[in-house]
Amino acid sequence: MSSAYDQLLSLLRRYISQINAQNILARAIREVGIEKHQVSEAHLGELASKLEPSLRLFLRPAALASLQSELGSIGRPSAPLESISLAIKQEADIATARAQARDMCEKLGARRMTIQKLATVVSELARNIYMYSHGGTLEIHHAASPTSSLTVRAVDSGPGITNLDDIMKGNYKSRTGLGAGIRGTKRLCERFDIKTSPAGTTVEAEVAV
Ligand SMILES: Nc1ncnc2c1ncn2[C@@H]1O[C@H](COP(=O)(O)OP(=O)(O)OP(=O)(O)O)[C@@H](O)[C@H]1O
Ligand SMILES: [Mg+2]
Repeated sequence: MSSAYDQLLSLLRRYISQINAQNILARAIREVGIEKHQVSEAHLGELASKLEPSLRLFLRPAALASLQSELGSIGRPSAPLESISLAIKQEADIATARAQARDMCEKLGARRMTIQKLATVVSELARNIYMYSHGGTLEIHHAASPTSSLTVRAVDSGPGITNLDDIMKGNYKSRTGLGAGIRGTKRLCERFDIKTSPAGTTVEAEVAV
């Protein structure tokens, strides 16, 4: 049996019973004019449209829409890139960024610990933009491959970090001591790069999801 067939069947089984799933899938395959073992990713679009009338009988519109969106992602090498971009100007923007980061993680089905990690990274970087520059941007990108990860990119055109070496070596004592600071944030990340100059600061931090 082809793996495309197995994937289709197991997806349908999450929405309808095994016997109904097998029956309507068998009928759709016949209508496409192929055999079960010939089902490949190339047939998924056609099969999805043949399945639709039968699925309408079993599913409410919301469930049907959700199944159709899942059908659309079978066989794709990676999910489409999801991104958000936020201006950080006022203190309230830090909470907004944090909430959006959580939201993005939840949509990806991330574990609680990962959500907490990303929310911390986002708040620390957004807070630094708010406190030490005249405002900037915070972006979060999701990449599904090579491994699933979220990259936070914090960009500002502030005065730059003059004592970055000391901060990274742990020789700098945080003034407020409110959070993890840059050094603590780095420890939460798989990758953490800072580019800073008198023209501004860019931080890229990657967290596995
Ligand atoms: N985006 C930035 N632009 C300019 N300077 C920055 C920026 N981010 C950090 N800094 C400087 O680097 C120092 C260290 O930042 P870090 O986030 O590690 O600690 P903190 O902000 O002082 O305290 P905490 O984050 O623990 O509340 C800051 O005090 C500030 O002087
Ligand atoms: Mg800070």
